[in-house]
Amino acid sequence: MSFTQIRTICCIGAGYVGGPTMAVIADRCPHIQVVVVDQNKDRISAWNNPDLTKLPVFEPGLDEIVKRARGNNLHFSCDVKKAIQSADMIFISVNTPTKNKGLGAGQASDLKWVEACARQVAQFSVGHTIVVEKSTLPVRTAATIQAILEATSSQEALEANPSFSVLSNPEFLSEGTAINDLEKPDRVLIGGSDPNAIEALVSIYKQWVYPEKILITNLWSSELSKLIANAFLAQRISSINSTAALCEVTGANIQEVANAIGSDSRIGSKFLSSGPGFGGSCFQKDILNLVYLCGHFGLPEVANYWESVVKINNWQKKRIAKLIVDKLFGTVTGKKLAVLGFAFKANTNDTRESPAIKIAKDLLEEGATLAIYDPKVTKEQISLDLTQYPAFESKNNQDLPTNLAELDSNWMYCKSIVEAVRGADAILILTEWNHFTNIQWSEISPLMRKPSWVFDTRGIVNPKHVTKAGLMCWRVGDGSL
Ligand code: UDX
Ligand code: ADP
Repeated sequence: MSFTQIRTICCIGAGYVGGPTMAVIADRCPHIQVVVVDQNKDRISAWNNPDLTKLPVFEPGLDEIVKRARGNNLHFSCDVKKAIQSADMIFISVNTPTKNKGLGAGQASDLKWVEACARQVAQFSVGHTIVVEKSTLPVRTAATIQAILEATSSQEALEANPSFSVLSNPEFLSEGTAINDLEKPDRVLIGGSDPNAIEALVSIYKQWVYPEKILITNLWSSELSKLIANAFLAQRISSINSTAALCEVTGANIQEVANAIGSDSRIGSKFLSSGPGFGGSCFQKDILNLVYLCGHFGLPEVANYWESVVKINNWQKKRIAKLIVDKLFGTVTGKKLAVLGFAFKANTNDTRESPAIKIAKDLLEEGATLAIYDPKVTKEQISLDLTQYPAFESKNNQDLPTNLAELDSNWMYCKSIVEAVRGADAILILTEWNHFTNIQWSEISPLMRKPSWVFDTRGIVNPKHVTKAGLMCWRVGDGSL
């Protein structure tokens, strides 16, 4: 049977990946009905909110696409069963966080949500269904999904006579530029063995992606490529951050070094910005997953190699918190520090694994009072981030504070830069929002308590402007300061 004409798609998981990806597919394929389902009712209501500024995911350009497609061929619903029953193709786009207990805790990905999806698909699907893995998954997860799909035994399912093809189609979008990445991808990767299923998925992407950019591999290469792509990218950041530390003590400047090495076309200029460490839902999770896989397959040297990327990342966050304390005369107790930016990078409201969380917690532990401003992150989210610890972290980390409620009372949420910096001893720039690049330091300086510092962990301020305004300046990787 050929499925080159897909008419209905169901996507399970209306998160940062599922929502924007399906919005673009719906926008580019008006002949396909796309239903995005999620068990989280609040999330679905937010996707259906007539006020497009209230969508649960902030991505530049997403609101316009949702406006165009929603209600026409793009739908958001909690009715998982109905969406699965009518779908020719089902994308699994659910969360796969690092396991926090049991075998592989702290490293392996927790596949319980993926497994639950596979069971729902097995139970409700009708006829032949193509199941597409969108979530980043450990290698050979497709085999698990296939096994669950084939082992279905519910009467309802048997009467519906289902059969399945499983494809891997990892998403490489980057938050903050998701729409551009989806509309103009460097490549689309499809792994699988069923030519009809592959053709069906190719026919969707061909609506807007050049065929030469669509790469077909076997399932395992596709699953592994996604993990390795993220590991390589994260490795670059740990490389540049470790170089930044060296620049600071040698008098070199990381931006000059990055420019010099990035001019070599073999190295390339992208992804060489030194910062407070990488965050986001993918890099750490995927590397730890890779480390676990290597251990599982008896490759401890390879596991150690990749694990060092995460270790440098954690060290970078710790080192920044420590140097802030050192520069502020060895103590921040009772001092007000203005934290500018809490998202893990600019142009997103996502704070998952944001370096700001760890740095803020360390400073709160040291007794600082934080005044936090981020243009897109809510007070509730920051409160959640500052008071919650992943279970595996609390097991492994001896330094965790015991009184989380106390920490929660030592920070305030600010609605503007001015509110955050008034009376502050220091400003910490933790996210590279445009708003912070253009700060008029001569206007900010009089609001602060002297002597006052600017700690720029993103390398976005001009130190000359800062010092001219009477403030002291530290900039990541700048050994000339
Ligand atoms: C990443 C991958 O880029 C994407 O392909 C994959 O699908 C998901 O994971 P994302 O996490 O959204 O995307 O953001 P990315 O732009 O890769 O940034 C990740 C982290 O690295 C951020 O904290 C960012 O600030 C940091 N980063 C990035 C740097 O510190 N320096 C850089 O030069 C680039
Ligand atoms: P990502 O960044 O990978 O998109 P998110 O956590 O933002 O991850 O989104 C994943 C979504 O998947 C969540 O909204 C969650 O409620 C949803 N989800 C997880 N398991 C299921 C399931 N079995 N059925 C429906 N939705 C699910």
